[in-house]
Amino acid sequence: MKTVTTLVELREQTDLLRATGTLALVPTMGALHKGHLTLMREARARADHVVASIFVNPRQFGQGEDLDAYPRQLARDSELLQAEGVSLLWAPAPAEVYPAGYATNISVAGVSDGLCGADRPGHFDGVATVVCKLFNQVRPDMAFFGEKDWQQLAVIRRMARDLDLTFPSVDAIHGVGIVREADGLAMSSRNAYLSPTQRSQAAALPQAMQAAIAAIAASTPAAEALAALRGKILAAGFDSVDYAELRDRDSLAPLDSDNGTARLFVAARIGGTRLIDNMPV
Ligand code: PAF
Repeated sequence: MKTVTTLVELREQTDLLRATGTLALVPTMGALHKGHLTLMREARARADHVVASIFVNPRQFGQGEDLDAYPRQLARDSELLQAEGVSLLWAPAPAEVYPAGYATNISVAGVSDGLCGADRPGHFDGVATVVCKLFNQVRPDMAFFGEKDWQQLAVIRRMARDLDLTFPSVDAIHGVGIVREADGLAMSSRNAYLSPTQRSQAAALPQAMQAAIAAIAASTPAAEALAALRGKILAAGFDSVDYAELRDRDSLAPLDSDNGTARLFVAARIGGTRLIDNMPV
């Protein structure tokens, strides 16, 4: 696996790879866990070459968020990527992605609103902007994203459709199912922030979600099931619940009940850590 940090090197290396097959891009911010490695494997199964990017994107962090504290472990991540058969690692410095005078922002209305968009103003503009740049830099035939960030995936697909992107086209933007710990907690780089006590309390989040989904399936009104879900999460030791909502899985329009396309979305805070999860209803 080669590692490149400048756009010139990236262009050279991706041209070489493209000459011998298809390219898949897996964008990440590093601090890789098994969920990321599953993305690499999916990409490897579908494309001849996998390009992984590691870039902690400052534009998607709000004021007071964890940009400086975000775990950075390039040497360890490189070893993991190498072991997964990744061909090329794109690991630019911030100035390579946002040189002096950088002025452009991509904002995807609608799907960026509500859920994490409400609690993290500007976050999805930062994600859409950097992902559009990564697509243009690498020009992959396909790209892979985790479904844990379901709203992020919806924003990226909407952007690709609206801007007529071709490398990759919207149909070649693949979502990969959430990878969970044995107790059900969705894998996330931010789980590393949890103390041992918080880590064991955090399992209440997916468990309460499953209970709410079972209650809705057994005809409990959704509002009642979601109120019980919030209560269980707080009782388990979480400090707050940012949202617990049913939304349409594609448009992310809010739903009052399950109409066959509903997905449950939850974000909750424990200590200084914000955890998100989503499940089909
Ligand atoms: O999901 C992430 O890790 C990031 O939001 C992404 C897609 C790499 C953009 O910075």
